[in-house]
Amino acid sequence: MGLTAVIIVDLLQLKIPELTGSIADGLELGTITSNDLLQIILYLLVVGFGIVFFRFIWRINIFGTSRRIEYGLRNDYFEHLESLSPSFYNKQKTGDLMAYATNDLNAIRMLVGPGVLMALDTIVLTTIVISKMIQITNTRLTLLAVIPMPVIAIASLFLGKVIRARYKKKQEAFAYMSDIVQENISGIRVVKTFVQEGFEMIRFKEVNNDNYAKNISVVKIHALIFPLAMLITGVSITIALFVGGRMTMLGQISLGDFVAFTQYIMMLIWPMIALGWFINIYSQGMASVTRFKEMLNVKTDIVDKENLCNGEIKGEINFENLNFTYPDANIKALDNINLKIEEGKHIGIIGRTGSGKTTLVNLLLRMFDAPRGSLMMDNKIIEEWPIKKLRKSIGYVPQDSFLFSDSIKNNITFGIGECSISDIEEAAKNVDVHDSIIEFEKGYETIVGERGVTLSGGQKQRISIARALILDPTILILDDAVSAVDTKTEEKILGHLKNVRKGKTTITIAHRISTVQDSDCIFVLDEGKLIESGTHEELLVGKGIYYGMVMKQQLEKSIADTE
Ligand SMILES: Nc1ncnc2c1ncn2[C@@H]1O[C@H](COP(=O)(O)OP(=O)(O)OP(=O)(O)O)[C@@H](O)[C@H]1O
Ligand SMILES: [Mg+2]
Repeated sequence: MGLTAVIIVDLLQLKIPELTGSIADGLELGTITSNDLLQIILYLLVVGFGIVFFRFIWRINIFGTSRRIEYGLRNDYFEHLESLSPSFYNKQKTGDLMAYATNDLNAIRMLVGPGVLMALDTIVLTTIVISKMIQITNTRLTLLAVIPMPVIAIASLFLGKVIRARYKKKQEAFAYMSDIVQENISGIRVVKTFVQEGFEMIRFKEVNNDNYAKNISVVKIHALIFPLAMLITGVSITIALFVGGRMTMLGQISLGDFVAFTQYIMMLIWPMIALGWFINIYSQGMASVTRFKEMLNVKTDIVDKENLCNGEIKGEINFENLNFTYPDANIKALDNINLKIEEGKHIGIIGRTGSGKTTLVNLLLRMFDAPRGSLMMDNKIIEEWPIKKLRKSIGYVPQDSFLFSDSIKNNITFGIGECSISDIEEAAKNVDVHDSIIEFEKGYETIVGERGVTLSGGQKQRISIARALILDPTILILDDAVSAVDTKTEEKILGHLKNVRKGKTTITIAHRISTVQDSDCIFVLDEGKLIESGTHEELLVGKGIYYGMVMKQQLEKSIADTE
């Protein structure tokens, strides 16, 4: 509809020189009456209104469609982002990913909206105007007048190539700058405490300067296209005035035709400019389309395979001769792990930092895929379970607790959607954070800052545990989840957990002995290897690494107590 309206507008526009031409002819020959004049002007008015109406129609339709395409692409892009696995985000930066959704989408929208319009307008208007010019004068004059015009097209074509290359660099510079800003804002507390504001400012100025330079390099070419188009149309008009004027003097064409002819030439200015514009928009749009396509083509490496098993997950986990190295890393994060977690047992995993504890969980949650056959869930290869079912049956409290800038209540119910306030409170009480929450003026409705910055580390951790606990999952995993609370609170939380998680697989990862000592079985990891396992008592008797840790932590505690 929009495209048809454009064509109608172009045809209507053609009427104007015709009508003004007939006025000029009438005036010269003295044949026109005031009545005729009024009639022609009325006719002009009708044409004018028609133009207004159909312009409105094409604007709504063409620009509306481009907005709709932008809307759809943005949804697709977000869905794609949600589907990608952590190994993708290990490499990608947030600022760059944001640039796709802003700058690139913008360029694509310009291409499918104004771009399409300008292309059509150029073709239609140029064709009909030129054929009209030939009709009222002759081919010779028309050719003479429009001969300079293709120069614009050729120049634009060449410049378009240059723009595309420069535009790509400009887009990259913008993405990089967004990234620096994004990282700086989320790390503002570190920047301030290390008094690096000045340094960061200098760094930003450099990046911003680069962004500016890349923009200017695009603008320079833009700046060239428009005056060029104007210059060439100017030449055309000059030729038309001269040759056309002479033809009129010699009586070869009428004065009205001459008036109309010069108006037609004027009508060609816009399509020529539009052509320049279109080449800009097309070059930038296509550069963004390429970037966008590449992004949407990134495949997620963690997907459901065929022949999945149904049934429910019970919670027996087996690591069998498991070796794991992170993609693009060269050190083994896990080395020949053989570890069995029986259904319903409470398990502790302890080990020094970097020993591979979180990696075990990453594999269990299929954030990364373990080598096939080395990780079993309920005696089935883990990949045979649907990913969603697997993840839904695991309640996970990550090491770096992350809260959304939403109410505390919504943060707790994040994984289940709606649930009764008494369930929320119960979960909060079980992790001993209920009392702190109700002290806030708005209680559970308190909105936490971005990533939970307005809460204490311990509060954040406990709300994260409540979020996992309220799911009542088949398997609960706490990754260093009570490290930020004092030992007394820890004792309380663990006591509650023991009760509510009775008979349900629960895995607690920690550095502190006190967190894991009551577990049914404790696994000790070191440098990616499983070196000891057993109950607290068994491990003490073994006098191995675990025993050493116990002694060391007891000593530290007694020194702290005497101080
Ligand atoms: N996403 C990743 N990509 C590459 N290597 C990683 C990644 N995550 C962890 N590693 C590496 O894997 C090893 C094990 O890390 P892991 O996070 O499992 O240790 P951890 O036992 O949980 O330590 P901590 O107690 O400090 O949390 C480390 O050497 C680490 O550098
Ligand atoms: Mg860890």
